[in-house]
Amino acid sequence: MNAVDLVIRSGKVVSPDSVIEACVAIKDGIVVAVGAEAAMPSARETLDASGLHVLPGAIDVHVHFRDPGYPHKEDFESGTAAAAFGGVTTVFDMPNTIPPTGTPEILAAKHKMAAEKAHVDFGLYGLLGEDTIEHVPELAKTVIGFKLYMGNTFGAIPTPSTGVTLEAFETVALTGKRVSLHAEENSTMVNRETRMRNAGRVDPLAHLASRPAVVAIEAVSRAAILAEWTGARIHILHISSAEELRPLREAKARGVDITGETCPHYLVLSSEDYARFAGVIRVNPPVREKRNQEPLWAALADGCVDVIATDHAPHSPEEKTRNDIWTVDCGFPGVETQMPIMLTEAAAGRFSVCDYVRWSAASPAKIWGLYPRKGVIQPGAEADIAIVDINREWTIDDAKLQSRSKITPFHGRRMKGLPIHTLVRGRFVMRDRVLARDTRGWGRSVHTIQRLPPPRPQNTDQTMQAILRAAPAGAGERGR
Ligand code: DOR
Ligand code: ZN
Repeated sequence: MNAVDLVIRSGKVVSPDSVIEACVAIKDGIVVAVGAEAAMPSARETLDASGLHVLPGAIDVHVHFRDPGYPHKEDFESGTAAAAFGGVTTVFDMPNTIPPTGTPEILAAKHKMAAEKAHVDFGLYGLLGEDTIEHVPELAKTVIGFKLYMGNTFGAIPTPSTGVTLEAFETVALTGKRVSLHAEENSTMVNRETRMRNAGRVDPLAHLASRPAVVAIEAVSRAAILAEWTGARIHILHISSAEELRPLREAKARGVDITGETCPHYLVLSSEDYARFAGVIRVNPPVREKRNQEPLWAALADGCVDVIATDHAPHSPEEKTRNDIWTVDCGFPGVETQMPIMLTEAAAGRFSVCDYVRWSAASPAKIWGLYPRKGVIQPGAEADIAIVDINREWTIDDAKLQSRSKITPFHGRRMKGLPIHTLVRGRFVMRDRVLARDTRGWGRSVHTIQRLPPPRPQNTDQTMQAILRAAPAGAGERGR
């Protein structure tokens, strides 16, 4: 074999089912060999990774990089720099920007912007709502998937009725793409928030009271029924409660193509932290009672919850520290702290580093049709790699985050585990905890390598199909 570009020597290479001491050879951005030192080709450069773990870079399927629209919170450059520092090599960016990512023109402009600024690879979500259904076939050509907001959150995106959601699912089902859902039922939250406000409640726990778990249980159940009926593939974002797991588990057992995600904040924070963090912890869905944590961990372990993502939702310190909870923006950054937080839990013996790469890399790659190009370190895969020191002890300091949003409820948390180097398609985007100077614009959209199985058949019977074909869903008025 001709000389390769880089050999990562003597690290512990992690996959979902093994940790092996091995070298990794990379040429033209692709892993070309994993094996013993003696089997390695000559290389232009070598990196000694002895004592370190070599992980597939994390794929964070849920980030808000705020570009375009909110440059004081984040942009694609600062967001992907944060990803590089967090060992995250691919991000899927949400559509609640200004303007929302809901037309082909807006999507094309976002692709151009992201390709100019990104340090890591990315996918872009298209907004799925009443006004964007007509654009689905066109958007589907370059999005990684769609996002539908069943409940309101930051950005005040309208929440489609059940009827519109059914049509939206039917339309996306034909494309084979997956719909990621903000699964919180809206009307209940509106009622509860009004009740809290009328009672004069402006404290952080009133936010939790305004979004009880039943809004998530209802939304997951309803989404599963609509997905089953239409054949749409769906993904439940940010699962926050134990009780949501039952409709998710049951839908999986029925054969619905439904997947689930949770985030570090639902696993390591609880309602007991509201007094300490006040508005900083405000997030949708809310961080809930401690009793939810163990069932969420158990659901990751048994595969009911497939994926760890972050809902990286940066806001400015001023926007997070207002006294009236209803005026505090929801969410906080997470893309940079996810891997350390999870490695810390692994170090405590809660799960193995193999489990971790299954949740953070292999599963998301499989679910979104990127596997085995991404999500694994083996010959033929893109060399997206996080090289981590699982023994490094350190403390999260908001002021040192790459994200423009320097405020999180993780500030001051002791960590064991830190990404030291991050490579995207063979190139160092972060090396020795320093951002590469020249990788702005290196990141590219992964929709071009996405391979999805054929669309699934819809449940509607033949007679009904014929009637529906004769009465196409127009772009005009829809029933509510
Ligand atoms: O807390 C949240 N913030 N939850 C979401 O669903 C959206 C996010 C944001 O964009 O700020
Ligand atoms: Zn989100």
